[in-house]
Amino acid sequence: MTLAEIEQLLQQSVDRALGALAGAKSADELESCRVQYLGQKGFLSQAKKSVGQLPTVDDKKKAGKLANDADARLGKAYDEHKQRIEAAAREAELAERWDVTLPGRRALRGRRHPLTVTADDILDVLGALGFVRAEGPEIEHDWYNFEALNVPRDHPARDMQDTFYIDDDVVLRTHTSPVQVRAMLAIGKPPIRVACYGRVYRNDHDITHSPMFHQVEGLYVDGSVTFGDLKGTLQVFVERIFGAKSKVRLRPSFFPFTEPSVEVDVSCFSCNGTGSGGATVGDDGRCRLCKATGWIEIMGAGMVDPEVLRFGGLDPDKLTGFAFGIGVERVAMLRWGVSDIRLFFENDRRFLRQF
Ligand code: DAH
Repeated sequence: MTLAEIEQLLQQSVDRALGALAGAKSADELESCRVQYLGQKGFLSQAKKSVGQLPTVDDKKKAGKLANDADARLGKAYDEHKQRIEAAAREAELAERWDVTLPGRRALRGRRHPLTVTADDILDVLGALGFVRAEGPEIEHDWYNFEALNVPRDHPARDMQDTFYIDDDVVLRTHTSPVQVRAMLAIGKPPIRVACYGRVYRNDHDITHSPMFHQVEGLYVDGSVTFGDLKGTLQVFVERIFGAKSKVRLRPSFFPFTEPSVEVDVSCFSCNGTGSGGATVGDDGRCRLCKATGWIEIMGAGMVDPEVLRFGGLDPDKLTGFAFGIGVERVAMLRWGVSDIRLFFENDRRFLRQF
């Protein structure tokens, strides 16, 4: 081919090829255009091959430039159209799969369970008073759960807690008190100031007792911990948990692992300790929450029995301590006026949503 022929071929073919590329409606059509016009047997290859056979350098240069220009224009047109076709295909696929005009689905947000809220509050208060978290196993040795807490085998005090036995030596812990002994043995030297939160188990169930429930245990052992320290700690505790006007009352009681032992009452936060009126007033004018006594029992406590300190590897001649154990369900029930403990474990969203 001569220079003029090459020029003519390119002129005629480029426009045709551009038209064909632009008219391609699918990736397949575009591909056949590419093969036809830009492939090895297409006019462009033919023109490029002919360039080399031209007689003069000058002609080669001119024809080469024409061929390269044509190549560049076609290549650009091909790339652009390819992108357009691919975008359209993507769009079509999406439109088929996703209807973007449908209303969205509302995301359900979780919230803390009321028992978690209660336990967190209790642990926050104790944390602020310097109690650090401690933990123990829910499946516990009889020794920690009972014997090291002054409850020997075959002792009548065992009847205080109706226990699930795994075997003769292993129980589902009936309280968090075994963590007292574990903490003493683990920490070894005073001050020992721990709070333990966790599940406990008893063979008990009615509307205020569940076979699984939660306790928070507090223990403070040091050189000169007194009963006054216990009372002061409990006073701060009830003010923070039940309100600033709350008062503490301690009644003599018995636990094998404390001496002396007390039941801890808080002044009724419904009737303000008066026994009458308040949010839970009955038809007779008496407060139903505290049964008109003005006081509500919330936990057991006492000074750690010297024998228990000894079981914990500590010297009762040098150290004293106090301990207390509080039922989380009971606090939550009092706080929100929940009358049936089972509501906490049924996972009925109508109930859980309210907290
Ligand atoms: N462990 C006792 C119970 O579950 C509660 C208790 C009483 C814990 C007195 C204590 C305490 O730490 O000093 O019934």
